[in-house]
Amino acid sequence: MTPASALYNDLRDAGVIVTGGASGIGAALVEAFAAQGAKVAFLDRDVPAGEALAASLSATARHAVGFHAVDLADVEALKEAMQAAVDGLGGLKVLVNNAGWDDRHDLDDVNEAYWDHNQAINLRQMFFCVQAAAPALREAGSGAIVNLSSIAYLLNMPDLPSYAAAKAGIIGLTKSLAGRLGPEGIRVNALLPGMIVTERQKELWLTEEGMAAMVARQCLKRVLVAEDMVGPCLFLASSASGAITAQSIIADGGVF
Ligand SMILES: NC(=O)c1ccc[n+]([C@@H]2O[C@H](COP(=O)([O-])OP(=O)(O)OC[C@H]3O[C@@H](n4cnc5c(N)ncnc54)[C@H](O)[C@@H]3O)[C@@H](O)[C@H]2O)c1
Repeated sequence: MTPASALYNDLRDAGVIVTGGASGIGAALVEAFAAQGAKVAFLDRDVPAGEALAASLSATARHAVGFHAVDLADVEALKEAMQAAVDGLGGLKVLVNNAGWDDRHDLDDVNEAYWDHNQAINLRQMFFCVQAAAPALREAGSGAIVNLSSIAYLLNMPDLPSYAAAKAGIIGLTKSLAGRLGPEGIRVNALLPGMIVTERQKELWLTEEGMAAMVARQCLKRVLVAEDMVGPCLFLASSASGAITAQSIIADGGVF
């Protein structure tokens, strides 16, 4: 079943930035915002995939889709890329903090450098993207931030402690920033995907047995795909969810 799509009038011509938009869930979100008629820019370190996606979407989208190549672990580069993206859009209403890195790692092997790098990609950059986006969101008078967390931190998964800690941290970050930015009309929510089968997930971590086991835990007995995150994300980005902030939405087919 292909997820249904709704059209949100307030997203038309709205400035939207998606991090990690070159592939996976982020690419589905970039495509979906472009289909809403939004002005979309995305940040990613994967240059070939980013350039290809921006070119293919720009051919038919209402507004050309902007791609900014950056490693978000580099905070100074992140700030420059965010500024360039905001300038290119001419304003900002929505930030989707989607970029993440679910590399597996073991308790006995992780050193300080690995831990710090993992946190830099999975947690630190989300804070600094919000900091960089805040002036433009304030200028817009209202806005929405959607932070991609994960059910991974609720599942006692043994092979990604740093990632799980970061994804749990995103919930705290979301609630604190919602408190800070709410008085300025900016909403901040978290989206927790379940097992979303992307090309990368299939290549790296997912086996047929693993996928079958997760589907068995879900209420909905089907494999979830990147497009399943579009509806919840557009809803949280749109003023349709205008009274919702500081919340976490789990979109996992009913594991929790
Ligand atoms: N796929 C899943 O099952 C799943 C489940 C729960 C949560 N999530 C979360 O959803 C988000 C998207 O997941 P996905 O599966 O599509 O991931 P993905 O790995 O397929 O895509 C992530 C994108 O972010 C980019 N990226 C990663 N590190 C970056 C960096 N340092 N600088 C710039 N770009 C960087 C990658 O190049 C890629 O395009 C992530 O935050 C992830 O943790 C995914």
